[in-house]
Amino acid sequence: MTTWNRPGASVTMLLSFILFTSLSRAAKVMFTTGTDVHGVTRELAANRYPALYTGDYGDCLGGESLFRITRFDGAYYADNMTIVLHMDGTSSLRNESLMMRIAVDAYGENRFDMIVNPCNLNIASLCPVLADVPVKAWAEIRVGPQQIGGIPEIAYEIPDFEGTTRVQFFANSSQKEVGCFQAVMKNGNSLSHAYVIAPFMGLFTLAAIIASFLTATYGISVPHMRMHHAHSLSVFIVFETFQTIFFSGALSVNWPPILIAWWTNFAWSAGFVYSPPFVRSINSFAGVKGNSSQVGGSVPTIANTGEDLVGKIYGRSLMARSSFKASDPWRYEWGGDPVPAGLPLPGTWTGFPATLAAIGIPAADAFVFGLLWFLIAIAFLVVVAAVGVKILLEVLASTKWIKEDRLAYFRSYWVGFLGHALMRTLIIGFFMLMTLTMFQFTIWVSVGPMAVAAVVFFLVLMGVTSLVAYGCRYRTRHGAFSIAKDRVVLYRSKWFILPIWQTRLTEHKLGVKPVFSFPVYRLRHDDHDDDYPTVHLDQPYVKKFAWFTARYRRTRWWYLAYYVAYLFIRAAFLGGAGAVPLVQVYGVLALDVVNFAVTVILRPFKGTRNTAMGVWILSICKILTTGISIAFLPQLNVNRIITTVLGVIIIVIQGFTVIALLILIILSALSSRLSLLRNQEDFTPRWLDLIRIRYFEKMQTKAQDKWKPPKGTTSTEKELKKPTTPPEPHFAVTGVRRGSKIEDDFDDSTVYDSQQSFHEKGSHQSLTGKSRGRNSQAGSIRSRLSSGSLPRTGRVSRMSWSSREFGDPVLLERPDSTLAKRLSGITFTITPDDSSSTMTKDNGSMSGESSISHVRPQASFRSLRSQSTTRASSINENASTPTPTRDAFGFPALNRPSTLPEAAEPEE
Ligand SMILES: *[C@@H]1O[C@H](CO)[C@@H](O)[C@H](O)[C@H]1NC(C)=O
Ligand SMILES: *[C@@H]1O[C@H](CO)[C@@H](O)[C@H](O)[C@H]1NC(C)=O
Ligand SMILES: *[C@@H]1O[C@H](CO)[C@@H](O)[C@H](O)[C@H]1NC(C)=O
Ligand SMILES: *[C@@H]1O[C@H](CO)[C@@H](O)[C@H](O)[C@H]1NC(C)=O
Ligand SMILES: *[C@@H]1O[C@H](CO)[C@@H](O)[C@H](O)[C@H]1NC(C)=O
Ligand SMILES: *[C@@H]1O[C@H](CO)[C@@H](O)[C@H](O)[C@H]1NC(C)=O
Repeated sequence: MTTWNRPGASVTMLLSFILFTSLSRAAKVMFTTGTDVHGVTRELAANRYPALYTGDYGDCLGGESLFRITRFDGAYYADNMTIVLHMDGTSSLRNESLMMRIAVDAYGENRFDMIVNPCNLNIASLCPVLADVPVKAWAEIRVGPQQIGGIPEIAYEIPDFEGTTRVQFFANSSQKEVGCFQAVMKNGNSLSHAYVIAPFMGLFTLAAIIASFLTATYGISVPHMRMHHAHSLSVFIVFETFQTIFFSGALSVNWPPILIAWWTNFAWSAGFVYSPPFVRSINSFAGVKGNSSQVGGSVPTIANTGEDLVGKIYGRSLMARSSFKASDPWRYEWGGDPVPAGLPLPGTWTGFPATLAAIGIPAADAFVFGLLWFLIAIAFLVVVAAVGVKILLEVLASTKWIKEDRLAYFRSYWVGFLGHALMRTLIIGFFMLMTLTMFQFTIWVSVGPMAVAAVVFFLVLMGVTSLVAYGCRYRTRHGAFSIAKDRVVLYRSKWFILPIWQTRLTEHKLGVKPVFSFPVYRLRHDDHDDDYPTVHLDQPYVKKFAWFTARYRRTRWWYLAYYVAYLFIRAAFLGGAGAVPLVQVYGVLALDVVNFAVTVILRPFKGTRNTAMGVWILSICKILTTGISIAFLPQLNVNRIITTVLGVIIIVIQGFTVIALLILIILSALSSRLSLLRNQEDFTPRWLDLIRIRYFEKMQTKAQDKWKPPKGTTSTEKELKKPTTPPEPHFAVTGVRRGSKIEDDFDDSTVYDSQQSFHEKGSHQSLTGKSRGRNSQAGSIRSRLSSGSLPRTGRVSRMSWSSREFGDPVLLERPDSTLAKRLSGITFTITPDDSSSTMTKDNGSMSGESSISHVRPQASFRSLRSQSTTRASSINENASTPTPTRDAFGFPALNRPSTLPEAAEPEE
């Protein structure tokens, strides 16, 4: 059998195969004939891959074997029913007869067991073992169907076969075990394809990063940029998904190897990008000692001959693989190496060390390794990338490759953006660093890494905690906290029992069918100032703490504070409780269930895609993974074939999670594209334009984040059903004066038209979106602005009221951008004539805005606007004069936060 007819054969294997076939074309290859268990006889190349063969090997006496082994290859050729064993090494035994036991275990059961006398196998160097004679054993054992009957055919195909080969030596004189070597068995198929999957995932992650970056940097008005940014997929969630999948392997249970192989594909997200020089240099620091060119034990100490065996043992001719002769027609390419220092014995798949071993990293190195990669991520991927983008943009702008004002905001305040990027990176790395530091505390190897881990633990924990606390305090520094008594009422909805606050019920005059209620205390915060902008409109706050609040709903801006606490507890269980698997597994499971409930109740995210992933898919994936992992607890001793099936189920669950994530990244990239084109009047393809407008309108509605009575509640005031929502705005535009214009000569009806529409089209009519294709909207604008026969372009110079006045450099390019302006949220509102201050909260912004678009561009427009300055002056995109002072993050400090036409409600 050769590699090419193995479906899952990995790419490297293919490459090395191509390499070796080209080599072996040159050298001579022997052919034999063989008959398999079905009686089929074939001609077989000597260098073919066996059906099952050994990989890396280690000393199963924990370094106490009286042999040192530089080569240990075992294989089972199914096509000629032969077991082949090849061992090279030395021994400290002086003159000893031995017995050998060869055992193959697979899926928790012994499948092949054979006790042989080496003399019968013609292994001269073991019959007897002499101190000065190197051990060179080559055995071919013909087996019959009854001996290998324990190995089913599927074993030759299933990826990540769970099996080991173990060879033990017993001394005849003392009848004690003097040597034991174990190697993992494989069939060449594996789910571990990190070199393909990791870059693939990395590309998608990059797409998410770019979408996130562009939505955060494109635009002029900070609250508006934040609003669009909130709808891009959070990079934190992307990384959290990958990290969650990888750190599933941190539970101290007996994993099926198929799962461990699968997780290697996600190790990169936690910084585990294997590179041998890295590992070697960390080994010496982390106190991992050993020699990776041999396994086995205490030869020099046992040797009581007084001879310096070391010199002989370390002789060059004994080096692993050095005996490989390219010209040997019987040579083969399969086989493993001595297990690298610090890795567990091959064939043990228990806990985090096994997961780390699959990527070649000793457990003792894990923390230092992760920390180094995290620092590299901070230093290069974030700082260098931000500076690089800044420089690139400047160069492109100066060479006129891009428009002068492209990403102007980022280019002006890139230091502030860099600050946010660093904060987000710290949040992304928080869970991983906490897990690894606490894991390091549990494996005491040497002082150096412990000290570093302690320092990093303290710095990161204190840093993140204090920054988060500062973010919360900064927002709530005005006003006071109070503890109020409230009740949670559990009521019967159609199918579910749902909770609701008593105060909500009284406030909104809702009636429910209560099932049960209990009193609780609620922490409330009162601003004392009704004019205080809400968290997302508080510009100085957004500029400082967008990393903290940007993606969350108005009333859940503090969610990250909760989530950091959750991540810390999870890291404590995963990293710190490894010694007590029961506590660890059930602790993580309980925590994830609680977190799921809390997250579902809070619904913290503003964007749908973030909600889908962050609230639902990821939480469910965590719960299912941990729940199924209970079956792997060593105490339960579940049949290994069943655990493999369960492992495959976990892989399917996590695979679907990843697929969902990739789909959401694509959707987020598309929606971010829409966000970036928000200032574009003409949008192709046309059919997407309707989607675009709906997207923006939905975003506007969501930005207000109003509380809606849930299903199953009824208003107790039938006739006063309306007042549960704020009263509709009534305008009386009194101040629209206009002078005669040239346009009037063309079309006199427009003024009345527009004024009428101002009254008639209250608010929601133009908002429902159904009646509002882009064409009809644009058409209506055009007809109202119609200048008779004047072509559209002819009007450009006269539309002085358009974006030019607002100084939006992006809009400067496109003078005719009424729609664009509306979509980009440059909104202004008209103070309502009734005293209701809640008018603007509902859809005043849109109504004001869209009404304006119907109002004739006049001098009076400006007076209209100046009337409504106080709170309604909206986001003033006066970016033509960016000379304000700067705050801590390098953002311009504003004296007074401007507000979206959203009423400042006291935070809940
Ligand atoms: C089976 O094939 C292997 C590998 O080519 C070879 O070493 C072994 O001698 C063969 N067995 C028999 C019985 O021919
Ligand atoms: C090993 O011991 C046996 C008997 O115990 C003896 O006959 C033999 O000569 C010894 N071989 C060597 C090389 O010392
Ligand atoms: C070692 O002991 C076994 C079992 O007692 C015996 O069958 C075998 O012949 C012995 N080997 C030698 C070389 O004497
Ligand atoms: C490992 O052993 C080889 C010989 O087997 C020796 O040449 C090498 O220096 C050793 N390396 C370490 C790190 O001890
Ligand atoms: C606008 O307000 C009206 C009444 O308050 C409401 O029915 C309508 O759904 C609102 N539209 C939007 C888009 O919020
Ligand atoms: C916009 O900037 C100009 C130039 O500094 C300034 O005179 C004007 O008052 C600003 N407009 C607003 C609305 O802030």
